[in-house]
Amino acid sequence: MIDSAIRSELLHLEKSIIPFPEKFSRGILKSDMWETQAAIMHAVATHPLVAVKACHASGKTFMAARLALWWLLRWLDRGRVRVITTAPTLRQVKLMWEEIRTAAEASRIAFPECGSLALRISDDCYAMGFSSSKGVNAQGFHGDHVLIIADEAPGIEGDLWDAIEGIRAGGDVRILMLGNPVVPAGAFYDAFNRERASWQRFTISAFDTPNLGGQTLESLRAMDAAALAIAPKPYLVTRAWVFEKMERWGVEHPKFRSRVLGEFPPQSPYSVFTEAMIQRAKREPSEDDMRALQNMPRQQIQVGIGVAGPGADETVIAARAGGLILGIWPFEDADPRGAVLRKLNEIESTYPQFGPLVAT
Ligand SMILES: Nc1ncnc2c1ncn2[C@@H]1O[C@H](COP(=O)(O)OP(=O)(O)O)[C@@H](O)[C@H]1O
Ligand SMILES: [Mg+2]
Repeated sequence: MIDSAIRSELLHLEKSIIPFPEKFSRGILKSDMWETQAAIMHAVATHPLVAVKACHASGKTFMAARLALWWLLRWLDRGRVRVITTAPTLRQVKLMWEEIRTAAEASRIAFPECGSLALRISDDCYAMGFSSSKGVNAQGFHGDHVLIIADEAPGIEGDLWDAIEGIRAGGDVRILMLGNPVVPAGAFYDAFNRERASWQRFTISAFDTPNLGGQTLESLRAMDAAALAIAPKPYLVTRAWVFEKMERWGVEHPKFRSRVLGEFPPQSPYSVFTEAMIQRAKREPSEDDMRALQNMPRQQIQVGIGVAGPGADETVIAARAGGLILGIWPFEDADPRGAVLRKLNEIESTYPQFGPLVAT
């Protein structure tokens, strides 16, 4: 229980700290934010719709977890107060909740004990998390002050966005969407494109973050090992990691664009399959997917092989069963036939229920 001492402490903080999440985070939760984290927090306090597309390890989840705690105390005793956190998989939701728990434990104001996916201050004021792949009854989330945090938002399916629209119909409802811009389609993409006017938008390139601030692709490329090792905030994306990805993927690669620069990959008008379809096929198979596969009559694994020509290309094999990609494996050697055969045998013995492989 948040007791009366806390309520009076909150009253005392009312004007100077409580309206400002970045100050609340520093003063009460003892978490200092870097510049863009603070700017995003401020945006959530002042704007209903905020979307952040960003590189890996820019501190999105960390910052959102502190916003969740702020929201509960910001509106405590002012009607029905809710924080809802969601992400495509349970594992991702739990990552957010580990941050919420850590933040609550460090807080100067004692929060009630934080459950694995819920924090309840009172019947009227609570936060909870669920994975977006579970069907949800959005009715329960109507409230007077509702903060919806969608982490890894590009992977969240359309049904949930419809439910969220329903919640937005009444009350003070804010949405914070966070993610790597991996899929150029869907609600997250729209927030940066056809619905851009409604959203307060942020893009975080690794080159904007504290460990790389002021550097460029060229300056990073020219760095020696000592310069690459400089990391004033070692928990955030590092120079060494960006350098490695630059070497491995190259700066034109869609993965580099989205995971390092925070930019959506372009959608070619000539592609047969959209990036969104491919991402969906690559999802981790759920128990339902596996059961459906087991029950499919005469299910076979199909393997496609892209044979590399001379040069820097890799030979790649992709195995699928039904609508699921079981794996994609690249081979760097000039003549990878032995390695490919071994991989094919391995796939066959990993999924004995599917019978022999079919090459396409
Ligand atoms: N302002 C901060 N102060 C201390 N640690 C931070 C801060 N921001 C992020 N971190 C830590 O940095 C790491 C990456 O942050 P995270 O929020 O997971 O990034 P993202 O969600 O953007 O991939 C995590 O271990 C997180 O706890
Ligand atoms: Mg994250």
